[in-house]
Amino acid sequence: MYRGLPISDSPIDRLNEISTWLNSVLDLDQLLELIIDSATRMMQAKASSLLLLDQKTGKLYFKIATGEKKEEVRKYEINMGEGIAGYVAETGEPLLIPDVSKDPRWDKRISEYIGFQTHSIACVPMKMEGKIIGVVEIIDKEDGSSIKSEDMKTLTAFAGLASMAIGNARKIDQVKRENKDLKEELETKHQIIGESKSLKKAVSDAFKVANSKTSTLILGESGTGKELLARLIHRAGSRKAEHLIVLNCAALPETLMEAELFGYEKGAFTGAASRKIGKFELADCGTLFLDEIGEMSGGMQAKLLRVLQEGVFYRVGGLTPISVDVRVISATNRDIAKEVAEGRFREDLFYRLNVVQIRMPALRERKEDIPLLASYFVNHFGRERGLQDLKISEKALEKMREYDWPGNVRELANAIERAVVMGNNQEILLEDLPIFSHKTDQPGLEVGLTLKEALDRFKKEFILLNLKHTDGNRSKAAKIMDIQRTYLSRLISQYQI
Ligand SMILES: Nc1ncnc2c1ncn2[C@@H]1O[C@H](COP(=O)(O)OP(=O)(O)OP(=O)(O)O)[C@@H](O)[C@H]1O
Ligand SMILES: [Mg+2]
Repeated sequence: MYRGLPISDSPIDRLNEISTWLNSVLDLDQLLELIIDSATRMMQAKASSLLLLDQKTGKLYFKIATGEKKEEVRKYEINMGEGIAGYVAETGEPLLIPDVSKDPRWDKRISEYIGFQTHSIACVPMKMEGKIIGVVEIIDKEDGSSIKSEDMKTLTAFAGLASMAIGNARKIDQVKRENKDLKEELETKHQIIGESKSLKKAVSDAFKVANSKTSTLILGESGTGKELLARLIHRAGSRKAEHLIVLNCAALPETLMEAELFGYEKGAFTGAASRKIGKFELADCGTLFLDEIGEMSGGMQAKLLRVLQEGVFYRVGGLTPISVDVRVISATNRDIAKEVAEGRFREDLFYRLNVVQIRMPALRERKEDIPLLASYFVNHFGRERGLQDLKISEKALEKMREYDWPGNVRELANAIERAVVMGNNQEILLEDLPIFSHKTDQPGLEVGLTLKEALDRFKKEFILLNLKHTDGNRSKAAKIMDIQRTYLSRLISQYQI
């Protein structure tokens, strides 16, 4: 019984009081117990119960019960249409029965089993969005008199409260579940998979810089997880509550880039219909991730350098200096040192950005991570398609381990996504992997084969071609190919031509 909150004595006050608690008391069981207990006391009933409809079994079960036999009664389930409660749940109509012994709908089994004398019953349905979710019933008055028709109104009001409480609780549950899902989705989305030394070093360096404002430059080939690492640095640091703003420096021509980065005032140029806040301002107190910094034009490099040196900038067409507190992470897949040496990237800007440098290793440098990544992506994409125990065949895994993955983790992820979609839903096979099924017209000219396999395929086709040319005459064919006839025969049986 819920005893946390005082209950006033006037019935209307009591109802109002409970209504206001509906939104604050979050434990559904406590709340329902409170509602039923109040109803019982208000109507001075001998016993009362709240039964809920189990959607799966289609049966009513006792959620809450009061009275001297409350423990016993909880063991029972009631079919729809069975007894008074079953009748009310099925028809949706409230029912008041002053003398149960005269009513054919009365099913006395439960009362007899638990040894509870019943004379009168009042039972009302609970509905949510028009659907029956259960019933509330009271049995007899404490003083032995029958339940009266006025009691029905009170009981209906309490049933309404209980429905509301259940509705709220279900909504809260749903929101909680959705939040949890979203959070998990976000977390797994940014999970960096890998146990190799080189990857662990990158991740541990990321954690080291996370809590400072130090500019960090992330280097690495395309698809190695540079953006993933930038997000990790932001998330792991003290700025995580603020935004991480991403700007791809390769995507835009210089004038547009300037407007993106610094924003502009209304009327700064044709088309500037209203003020626009730039990425630098949006990232205030947070992190600005400048992706593909190596692609930035010389002019933009100069402007960026100025902001980083002075800590202030102007919106395009603006006169007021704006100062922001931004931590900058940048990334490039170019050989930036070479770009600097050859004069394509400003050395002074490079030093500003490159206070800490983290290099994401290429996948071929950490092949030991391939099985781990492969099974991570198989699970990930399998789950998206509702596949539980999707496996990777030994052969497919072996080939994946051998392959060099020029597109790194992104290529691996894409390959597996395709294999999951195109495969047999049970096991990823070698032929499901796009990299190994890039067939060309030329025998052996195919990614994923070893040199020996490729040469064997070529040899077989080449021999076939020559045999066709000589109408199967081995001596002639051997002569054209300038090999011994015996050697040709050996090759023919070896390749099962
Ligand atoms: N270690 C990893 N664990 C799990 N997923 C990874 C890992 N590394 C990369 N990925 C995934 O691979 C894809 C490419 O990663 P990301 O975009 O971070 O690479 P990038 O280095 O920024 O590539 P680019 O230079 O082409 O922009 C993303 O989907 C990312 O989630
Ligand atoms: Mg990237």
